[in-house]
Amino acid sequence: MARKKVTVLDIQKRKEQKVPITMLTAYDYSGGVLVDQAEIDIILVGDSLAMVMLGHENTVAVTMDEMLHHCRAVARGAKHPFLVGDMPFMSYQIELAETVRNAGRFLKEAGMDAIKLEGGRDVAPAVQAIVRAGIPVMGHIGLTPQTISQLGGFKAQGKTAVAAHRLLQDALILEEAGCFAIVLEAVPAPVAAAISQRLHIPTIGIGAGAGCDGQVLVYHDLLGLFDRFTPKFVKQYARLNEVIVSALNAYRDDVVNGRFPTDEHTYPMPEAEVEAFQRLLEGNQ
Ligand code: KIV
Repeated sequence: MARKKVTVLDIQKRKEQKVPITMLTAYDYSGGVLVDQAEIDIILVGDSLAMVMLGHENTVAVTMDEMLHHCRAVARGAKHPFLVGDMPFMSYQIELAETVRNAGRFLKEAGMDAIKLEGGRDVAPAVQAIVRAGIPVMGHIGLTPQTISQLGGFKAQGKTAVAAHRLLQDALILEEAGCFAIVLEAVPAPVAAAISQRLHIPTIGIGAGAGCDGQVLVYHDLLGLFDRFTPKFVKQYARLNEVIVSALNAYRDDVVNGRFPTDEHTYPMPEAEVEAFQRLLEGNQ
């Protein structure tokens, strides 16, 4: 049977049927193709691309145009997963009209199915306005990397009873505002499990334990493509950095030692044409 594209209804059904939801980031065409082939439910074109693709220190600097550029590339490659574009810092904090216009660009110009934004109760009006415009919104609470300056670093959140209770309230407010799912990042497992049980919409955890309705990882972390730092919650399934560097070394070695290219990688020319060419060259001398 031909595979169907995942919809927002499928994602909600997974929660009701207790089938774990799979989500991964991707940032370009080839990543989109591979994640699609692995039959992952949701692709997030995360603003983590600021760090893993563009080399920034954190996610704050990435722009709307950069995000849309990467979203378009992923959408060209990934035809079955549900596609979520991450709204960059300051694209949804200033005023509601601009917020809705920016959210709309992810669907109209970049082939996304939904957007994600970070924050709790403070972003509820933005969520409501975007949902009212017909755009599905994924929330994101706990460790919210765009406000890293305010949080004082990449640290787990909700570690005291009061902070955990506030996170639960934020999650309920986001659900009420219309989010179809919420990412819980770097939150103690019992807190994430309690939030997941109380919400009707799915939670997607990253560093939030097994009690969430789904899991997300950053593509580069899972594949071992980013070694500037590896958070505690990452499980590395491959060490592609090593594979790539060893292939690049082998290429350099082959070129330097005359082993590449060989006849196998070169275009042949009929003998008669080679001789005719030779005569032309001699005539030109
Ligand atoms: O930008 C990102 O990749 C994210 C995930 C870590 C959830 O927000």
